Amino acid sequence: MKTAFITGITGQDGSYLAEHLLDLGYKVVAMMRRSATPDTSRFAHIEDRITMCHGDLMDQSSLMRVMDEFKPDEVYNLAAQSFVHASFHEPIHTGEVTGLGVTRMLEAVRLSAPNARFYQASSSEMFGDVFETPQTERTPFHPRSPYGVAKVYGHWATVNYRESYDMFACSGILFNHESPRRGLEFVTRKISDHVAAIVFGEKDQLALGNLDARRDWGFAGDYVRGMHLMLQHDTPDDYVISTGTTQSVREFCKIAFERVGLNYEDFVVVDPKFFRPAEVELLLGDASKAKDTLGWVPEVDFQGLVEMMVDADLKRRMVMGNGPTRGSLPEGLA
Ligand code: NAP
Ligand code: GDD
Repeated sequence: MKTAFITGITGQDGSYLAEHLLDLGYKVVAMMRRSATPDTSRFAHIEDRITMCHGDLMDQSSLMRVMDEFKPDEVYNLAAQSFVHASFHEPIHTGEVTGLGVTRMLEAVRLSAPNARFYQASSSEMFGDVFETPQTERTPFHPRSPYGVAKVYGHWATVNYRESYDMFACSGILFNHESPRRGLEFVTRKISDHVAAIVFGEKDQLALGNLDARRDWGFAGDYVRGMHLMLQHDTPDDYVISTGTTQSVREFCKIAFERVGLNYEDFVVVDPKFFRPAEVELLLGDASKAKDTLGWVPEVDFQGLVEMMVDADLKRRMVMGNGPTRGSLPEGLA
């Protein structure tokens, strides 16, 4: 039985990746950092099948210790300060965790589990002020946030360890991926949760920032399959994972509100506090390399993703016994 080690288990991707690897018969070891209010809700349904351990990307010795103890076959480094907006307020912390944290993980693997295959969670945010559209593995980077800058560092650290030490290290350049388990601070989940709150009379409006930003949005459950496939290939490499379609925040709102029979224009207001000092206006990925080399294809399309997220936030309220006060519930939920 192969052992997979995951950092970032409490996050969105950690939970989907752990599910996927357990289904494939892996022993899954997952690392959590110490918190005064630990939250295991995203993986509570599989927690008894996971071996948990403690460690922090800020603490080199903790990473060495867990690599030494578990000697994993595969390491998935998903942990990061991952919220772009917050990275403008906490640029040093973001650089420490999201950037330098990658080198700490690579050092721990190199010194304590040198045969492990390593996956780094890189990001389309590295393309930033895009040089070309669509973006591929060869598109130059121009990050537009402290988060993007830190991810560029982590990406090149991964490439450098592959070239310097012959490590099986892959960088997955993943475009935005969402799900009902997405954090409430990210725009897609903020919208789906507000739509449900508006239907149930808890809120009357949704305040957003830049409605014209465009993203290539996919489903997290599809994207974690790509992470695993990268580590199964004969040779380590870097891959874009994306849907090849792009939509605006406004289009996301339109479909989300239509799902409950409402018009987004009646509820969405623009609040400048959600604008960023520098914005990434357009992302659109070309995942041809992952499709041709790894056989990876996404299964959930944009409309399906929006509806999945809205329905999940509606259901969460319905099980609490509340009834809708506005709009209409989608067929199947009513
Ligand atoms: P997420 O939900 O924000 O999860 C981030 C995880 O990192 C959490 O488990 C968090 O733990 C952990 N973490 C933060 N600081 C840590 C530290 N110092 N030591 C150990 N763990 C720490 O992110 P996600 O959406 O699942 O994304 C997973 C990874 O993919 C991230 O690296 C993200 O930057 C990258 N990525 C995401 C997307 C996307 O669209 N989702 C796209 C491209 C790349 P706590 O619960 O303790 O905070
Ligand atoms: N969060 C948020 N909140 N974003 C808003 C809002 C709002 O109220 N209003 C408009 N937006 C716009 C942002 O300005 C951005 O252009 C877009 O919606 C998406 O924002 P987020 O959902 O916060 O995601 P992101 O694209 O900045 O970053 C996510 O994707 C990256 C991959 O490209 C994160 O998951 C990163 O960790 C990831 O690397």
